Amino acid sequence: MFIKNGWYAAAWADEIGHHLVQKWITGEPVVLYRTQAGEVVALHDRCPHRRASLSKGNLVGDDVQCAYHGITFDCQGNCVRVPGQEKVPSALSLRRYKVVEKWQWIWIWMGQPDEADESLLPAFEYNDSPGWKALGGCIPVKANYQLLTDNLLDLTHETYVHGKTIGNSAVAETPMEYQLNGHEVHVKRIMENTPPPPLFKRVRGFEGNIDRWQIIRFQAPAHISIDARGYPTGVDDLEQGMRWFSLNSLTPVDERNTLYFWTVTRCFDLENEELDEIIKDQILKTFMEDVEVIEAQQVLIETDDRAIPEVSIRADGGSISARRIVEKLAAQDADAGIT
Ligand code: FES
Ligand SMILES: [Fe+2]
Repeated sequence: MFIKNGWYAAAWADEIGHHLVQKWITGEPVVLYRTQAGEVVALHDRCPHRRASLSKGNLVGDDVQCAYHGITFDCQGNCVRVPGQEKVPSALSLRRYKVVEKWQWIWIWMGQPDEADESLLPAFEYNDSPGWKALGGCIPVKANYQLLTDNLLDLTHETYVHGKTIGNSAVAETPMEYQLNGHEVHVKRIMENTPPPPLFKRVRGFEGNIDRWQIIRFQAPAHISIDARGYPTGVDDLEQGMRWFSLNSLTPVDERNTLYFWTVTRCFDLENEELDEIIKDQILKTFMEDVEVIEAQQVLIETDDRAIPEVSIRADGGSISARRIVEKLAAQDADAGIT
């Protein structure tokens, strides 16, 4: 069950041009393209004639022509041409989804278009803000998206999974505080006077201990921002510290596949291109360590015939709260018949 009345990251903005791109989101096929004027369009990617994939068809001007029998739809999803007949049956139309292009990504609202509310977009403005530099990508993951939200809401795993980059023993040893705030979950972990993890040393040249902050914000359906900071312990000069946001949107393709959109956006040493490469490479390696664990976890969950209930621990507080929010909102959408 998915939240339908909610925003999901559908694509990086530069991925969508005047050509047809297919994405599966919450179990639905969507075809995306830009009109000649540059507006992004998202339509249901299943031809109402015989269910062929429209994204395998052609753009004729700003209209989509099905590759199978040539029925053509405009960018509102209305049928404008049926080969061999003059009358266009009114049932021949496509669902059009509400989309917003913002902060380098294309966001899609999978529910009722008239309820699409831009104020519910996640707070990802640092992906495109003066004084910040965002680097990132999108990783296809063979696992349910909530295994990834669980992962990002409990960074204890950094100690065990990411020892080469952002993890060390201080993370697991420092307890987190978490708080439910409407449809958001906030998790905070502050590590004082602690050795910097390997990537922080590499990026900022820390020699002594640092005070390290992780401030995590979950916004439904599956957006997680991590405000990560490190400052030399006892030094007041913020210029000597580092701060970046790790901004993550987990877009469910279906129940067992996810598009993991990510960026790391920093506010220091912006012109340093060598640093860009280090961050991009090291963060991607870090996330691929997560993906390896999580894809294996998905297989074991699916093959567990006895379905023994999982046993939760204190560190699961944030992820359990986030799952409850998603469950409630998804049930509301299902009860209201929003598909
Ligand atoms: S299936 Fe699309 S025109 Fe026939
Ligand atoms: Fe991780």
